[in-house]
Amino acid sequence: MIEARGITARHGDNVVVRDVSFDVADGESFGIVGESGSGKSTLLRVIAGLHRDWSGELSVAGKKQDRDRPHDFGRVVSMVFQDPYGSLHPRQTVGRALAEPLIVQGIRYDAARIDAALRDVGLDASHRARYPHQLSGGQRQRVAIARALMLEPRLLLLDEPTSALDASVQADILALLRRVRQARGMSFVLVSHSLAIVEALCERAAVMQQGSFVEEVSAGDLRRGNLHNSYARELFAASRGFRRAF
Ligand SMILES: Nc1ncnc2c1ncn2[C@@H]1O[C@H](COP(=O)(O)OP(=O)(O)OP(=O)(O)O)[C@@H](O)[C@H]1O
Ligand SMILES: [Mg+2]
Repeated sequence: MIEARGITARHGDNVVVRDVSFDVADGESFGIVGESGSGKSTLLRVIAGLHRDWSGELSVAGKKQDRDRPHDFGRVVSMVFQDPYGSLHPRQTVGRALAEPLIVQGIRYDAARIDAALRDVGLDASHRARYPHQLSGGQRQRVAIARALMLEPRLLLLDEPTSALDASVQADILALLRRVRQARGMSFVLVSHSLAIVEALCERAAVMQQGSFVEEVSAGDLRRGNLHNSYARELFAASRGFRRAF
């Protein structure tokens, strides 16, 4: 699903992603953990085609990618953003937000299609006419996930999908994501600063520090703390006290 070789990305003069290489298999869920500012969101945005200042080689779903992505790229890949409030237009109803990816791709739709998408994420038709500020944080994130799933992409990029939510809502959203991935057989790349969330959702993960991947591990090794890199071990030790069963 993803072949990334030597990806380097800049913000102005700053190199914020440094020579990163990794693969994600079809149907696999790959996690990226690391501290704030380590370049996780920027790397995800490079894959999504939203950040243009990068070099290296990137293939997505077997196709080599340039800075500009094909118009139908959204049918293959979509992204759920770190801040669900920011990713939904405040003056767009939920129904309109869900219709938009279809409109952009010139796909005909009806209200039943929108309602089915709402049902898939545990909402119902009554939410269709609401505006983002009329939803709870968890409901907003469900809408953002529903929107990202509208075109039935093969790859979902998730940037801290639950960081803005309290613990019980976090668990609901993680369960939703797990169910969606199982039902659709999609691939995930999930960014989080929580090792517990990555363990819960991913088969493999990379630890990122100051723009570089310093270690790649299986979820099992992550769970057991079987890590070689000193920074990765520190991250593991720090997360220990905060573990919950998701
Ligand atoms: N639009 C921008 N313009 C300039 N610098 C930026 C921009 N976005 C991010 N950066 C810088 O790039 C670096 C990596 O940021 P990035 O958002 O990728 O980190 P992150 O790992 O996602 O952090 P967090 O966990 O806080 O979300 C940081 O030093 C940040 O200040
Ligand atoms: Mg980020």
